[in-house]
Amino acid sequence: MGKGSGYGKVILFGEHFVVHGAPGIVSAIDSTTDAEVKKAGKGINIKDGRKTAKGYSEEKRLQQIESIERMLKAMGIDPKTGLDIWIGGSLPGFSGLGASAASSVAIARAIAQELEMQIPDEKINQAAYEAEKAYAGNPSGIDNTAATYGGLLWFRKDMAGGADKVERLRVRRPIEIVIGSTGKVANTKAMVEAVAERKKKNPAKYDMIFKQAENLAIAGRKTLEAYDLKKLGELMNENHGLLQQIEVSSKELDTLVDLSRKQGAFGAKLTGGGGGGCMVALTPGKDLQGRVASAIKNAGLEVLSTKIGVEK
Ligand code: MEV
Repeated sequence: MGKGSGYGKVILFGEHFVVHGAPGIVSAIDSTTDAEVKKAGKGINIKDGRKTAKGYSEEKRLQQIESIERMLKAMGIDPKTGLDIWIGGSLPGFSGLGASAASSVAIARAIAQELEMQIPDEKINQAAYEAEKAYAGNPSGIDNTAATYGGLLWFRKDMAGGADKVERLRVRRPIEIVIGSTGKVANTKAMVEAVAERKKKNPAKYDMIFKQAENLAIAGRKTLEAYDLKKLGELMNENHGLLQQIEVSSKELDTLVDLSRKQGAFGAKLTGGGGGGCMVALTPGKDLQGRVASAIKNAGLEVLSTKIGVEK
């Protein structure tokens, strides 16, 4: 049997903007999707044992099958190869946490091990990028990169099709965060397409917002490196404002953001594709983290308390 894992992630700066060439900052979290793969008689059989938001597996089913077909092609594997695939692990199937990319990386690694192929991370990342196209249409590559390599990363897509710019960032100490889930499953592909359409219709407005997003990511990197967490939170708030302007937030996400800020979070924003899915709040220290997490739990929503910037 082959085994593999991929990291979940939160985006601190730049979701959606990264698709169009702006830089972004992403951090892996300590939850992973794990996969086990065994050669089988015929076809691809998937058993999905992940904890998910209601309806997640059903909504993603067709995209999941397409993603594995794309992955096999990228890995140069005969599409008729029979495979039994199991996925599970500690990363919940909530939209926004990079669950699709984490599962693609986990499955690609498990397939490689089962078929005794020596595949370096760079190729696993490429195969997961191809698989991500099924989920996100035109992905930037930020999610599969985080899922493959882990850690805290600066990411910039190469719009000419060359190698993306990926740099490992380091912080003085890991920082506590709270992730709150709206419980709503979101369709990343539809969200990415809708942003591209609106950008095409309103180039002047969108160019201005995209420039601000780029400046925010650059400032975010500096504040992370200087470990100025108050400022970092303010920049995350500003990033949420830009995401509202490009219409990818939702009532539920805004409510989670407001709730977290009222409890003292240094900053809060949606994370990932938006339209549902998750919010991330910057909550340095165990006390603040506990307070924000409890408030979200008391509102009847799912919470993940974790850290960003953990060295891998
Ligand atoms: C999803 O986690 C992030 C998006 O920017 C899509 C992508 O970059 O591929 C919305």
